[in-house]
Amino acid sequence: MESLVKSLLASGAQLADASLERLLPSAETLPVSIHRAMRHSVFAGGKRLRPILCMETARMVAGTGELPAGVAELGAALEMLHTYSLIHDDLPALDNDDLRRGKPTCHVAYGEAIAILAGDALQTLAFQTIAQLSAPATSVVEILGEVAIAVGTGVGRSGSIDTGLAPGMIGGQVVDIESEGVAPTAALVETIHRAKTGALLTTAIVSGGLYGLGSKPLAGRNDAEIIARLRTFGEKIGLAFQIVDDILDMTQSSAELGKTAGKDAATIKATWPAVHGIEQSRRDADRLIAEAYAALESFGSSADPLKSLAQYLTTRTH
Ligand code: IPE
Ligand code: IPE
Ligand code: MG
Ligand code: MG
Ligand code: MG
Repeated sequence: MESLVKSLLASGAQLADASLERLLPSAETLPVSIHRAMRHSVFAGGKRLRPILCMETARMVAGTGELPAGVAELGAALEMLHTYSLIHDDLPALDNDDLRRGKPTCHVAYGEAIAILAGDALQTLAFQTIAQLSAPATSVVEILGEVAIAVGTGVGRSGSIDTGLAPGMIGGQVVDIESEGVAPTAALVETIHRAKTGALLTTAIVSGGLYGLGSKPLAGRNDAEIIARLRTFGEKIGLAFQIVDDILDMTQSSAELGKTAGKDAATIKATWPAVHGIEQSRRDADRLIAEAYAALESFGSSADPLKSLAQYLTTRTH
């Protein structure tokens, strides 16, 4: 499993990087400041987990053993959205961080105005990229709707029973910021985590599934059932991922993380360990991964790559 995940991470990151290199304007394209800022953050060395999960999901559901042609572009679009969310997350008005992916944050390197605009531009470039995917028009429209809902304020999905908040990245960021300094409840942290982080990871899985299914239409296959299973898998690993992010913030050094360690406690963030403690948080992440595996049972051994990536989410050190 360990060597499988290593090669998936390495080859997936390479594919995602090659697509991003093709899709992002060069550092010489006018106006150069924003294109340099976009490239600074995109090529600072992220793990590329969202593109890798997207591509491996597409491979699994297409069922040919190959990556469906052009799926790396979808992966790149998801990485643009993720990087935009990080640039804005780090702004002085949000988490106020000066280190990201081992480099100065976008606003430290390029100033706040250009960093805000670089985030905006990565978001619009992501949707342009999705609109231009080489996939059937019906798949493209489904993927556009799916991804747009995931990175929005949650409108378009039903909300949590306890808090009413539906999973959407921006909605999650709003509640994360508005919850600083207040004693969080378990329900509040869960809805923040499902929204700010889980929604984009889930949509990486689901959109990859939609792309893979669209690349190989098959009569008699229950596509809705496949997407439902993928969504459950994505929601479980998405929540586990943010629980682990919270644990790593408390247990790792800034050098290891490539971002400021100990930041959550310093700013009294609503985190999983703040509510449940570190040991219970670790158990919760492991349980979620086991539940995620169960959602992929019907895919048999073709789900091994996704399962090994899910496992990596909890064993990673940065
Ligand atoms: C960090 O995501 C931000 C969260 C959503 C918790 P990653 O840990 O995937 O960051 P990169 O992309 O590898 O830098
Ligand atoms: C970030 O959560 C979620 C998004 C960027 C949407 P965090 O604020 O915990 O992420 P890090 O720890 O700064 O990467
Ligand atoms: Mg944050
Ligand atoms: Mg942050
Ligand atoms: Mg964090």
